[in-house]
This record gives sequence, C-alpha cells and structure tokens, in this order.
Amino acid sequence: MRAEWLDLPVAREVIASVAEGLAARYRVEPDTARREVERIFSANRELEKALRGAACARDVERLRVFKEAEKALRKELYYDLRRYRGEKSALSDLAGRLRAANDPETRGQMVEAILAAHASTRERLLHRSRFIGILAAWSTSARTFLDVGCGVAPLLLAREAPWCRAAAYTALDRDAQAIDCVAAFAESHGLDWLKARTWTLNEDWPEEDARYDMAFLLKLVPVIHRQERDLLDVLGRVPAHRLIISGSREALAKRGSIERRERAVLRSFAERTGLTCIAEEETGDEILMLLERTPHSVVEM
Ligand SMILES: C[S@@+](CC[C@H](N)C(=O)[O-])C[C@H]1O[C@@H](n2cnc3c(N)ncnc32)[C@H](O)[C@@H]1O
Repeated sequence: MRAEWLDLPVAREVIASVAEGLAARYRVEPDTARREVERIFSANRELEKALRGAACARDVERLRVFKEAEKALRKELYYDLRRYRGEKSALSDLAGRLRAANDPETRGQMVEAILAAHASTRERLLHRSRFIGILAAWSTSARTFLDVGCGVAPLLLAREAPWCRAAAYTALDRDAQAIDCVAAFAESHGLDWLKARTWTLNEDWPEEDARYDMAFLLKLVPVIHRQERDLLDVLGRVPAHRLIISGSREALAKRGSIERRERAVLRSFAERTGLTCIAEEETGDEILMLLERTPHSVVEM
C-alpha cells in the first residue's frame, strides 16, 4: 500500500525533483522514475522522519540521509536499466506459456512479449523493418547461419527474415533462459532447422561446428570488448565466411549517444581479427557492419 506521507507537500516536491533528474539522465519515463523514487523512499524510515519534519524541500535535500537514498536509487536504476532483460523469471515464464499456447494468436502474443522482455530486441522493434532490410541485402544468399550471443533475436529473424529458414540456423548464448525461449519457439512452431544451445565463448567453438555461410554477432562485440576482452580473438575465429556485427547507438541506461564509441569498437574488432569490412549501415538504434574473411584473414580453425 502507498504510504500516505508521500503526499505531504514537501515529500511531493522532493520526489518530483528527484524523478525529473533521473528521467533527464537515464532512459526512463518520468512516471516510471517517480514510481521508483516512491518505492525506494517509502521503505526509508529515516528519510520519512526528515520529510515529515521539514519546512521545505531544500531542508531535506542537504541531509546525508537524502543524499545516500538518492545515490542508492541512482545505482539501482542504473544497474536495472543495464540488464538485457527485466525480471529474472520473466523469460522462463514466457517460454513455458509459449509452449502451452495452442492457437496462433496466443503464440504470436507470447513471441511479441518475449521480444519485448529482452532489451536488445525491444529497442530494435521500433526499427525492425530497416533492420530486416539491411540483413536481407547482406545475407539472403546464405544458407547456414550461426547466431552467437543470440539473446531472443532468432525469434524475430525466424519470423521476419524468411531467408534465414534456408537450411540451418544455430543459436548460441550463455543465457539459459534466452536459449529456452528460442527452443520453445522452434518447438511450438515446428521449426526443425532452428537449433538453440547454451554455450559460452570461453569454451571456444565446438569442434563439430562446420563452417557457416553467415554468423550474426548482433550487439555482442561491444559486450565482449567491455566484459571479456581476451575473448575477442575467439570471437574472430567464429566458423563463418561472413559476419554481421553490430553495436548500439544509445546506451541501455544513460541518455546520450554512444555511437562513436561503439563504432570504434566494431572497427577495431575487424582490424584486430583481420576481417574486412565490406559494408556499413545503421538503423535508428543500431550500427551494423558486414565483415568478410578474406584469404589473408583466415584463422586456423
Ligand atoms: C546485448 S545482448 C545481444 C543479444 C542479441 N544478439 C540481440 O542482438 O538481440 C548480448 C548477448 O550476448 C550474450 N553473451 C554475453 N557474453 C557471452 C559469452 N561470453 N558467451 C556467450 N554468450 C554471451 C548475453 O547472454 C546476451 O544474450
């Protein structure tokens, strides 16, 4: 239940000002920011006491208890927004509901819910036709696809990029719940050409993986660059003749463009791994590059 003291004039002023600051700095809507501020502040008894006794917002805003509460709130929101996906259990629940769905309409709703539950695909949905158009121009002649760090993107591609149904599409990710969603999608739609497997990059490439015509490394290179830079060379040995790599134009959490930084990371990956960039495009949320393994860039596999 909502605490009544949150409606005291001073509390309302403080909450509105904190929420406004958060919405300006982070990619969160003002209403969501306000709800988060109220949720966190209402559990803070010391802050409640300070707000009840204050004559104006400034009296509270200079107190340590307020500054600490605001800092904790920023930290929590930042880490929350940076996660690829929301509730830990949401994707498993949705995978279960997709398996249980027995009519096309419910299946369609579950697929849309899964796409929206993962930040990488959620952002892409607004620009999906341009995204699919670029992939079409670059990969329609491919027959075998390897999607590395796939998240739930194979659901979008299997539905909207018909040429990806060509012969074989292998989807790999360390996130077991994302893989479960891809597997549930393949099962519920009877797609035997789509295989999903839990796998992590530090296992290197499975021996049995033949060379693929096309590898998708969508929004993956910048993540590996940030988190496991040593593994970029493994990524460069992906068993595929051509690769589509991509990065984001905006950060998941903070407002502002990260396009220059992501583009530089993608270019340095191509350079470091000796892959040749043969095309570059962008959508509203994503920078995409098509790389090719030339005779000089062939790495022992
Ligand atoms: C930014 S998301 C992109 C998801 C998807 N490719 C897309 O564009 O919609 C990065 C994905 O890479 C996966 N990932 C990150 N590091 C990984 C690793 N070392 N091995 C396997 N998967 C990894 C994450 O689990 C996550 O699903």
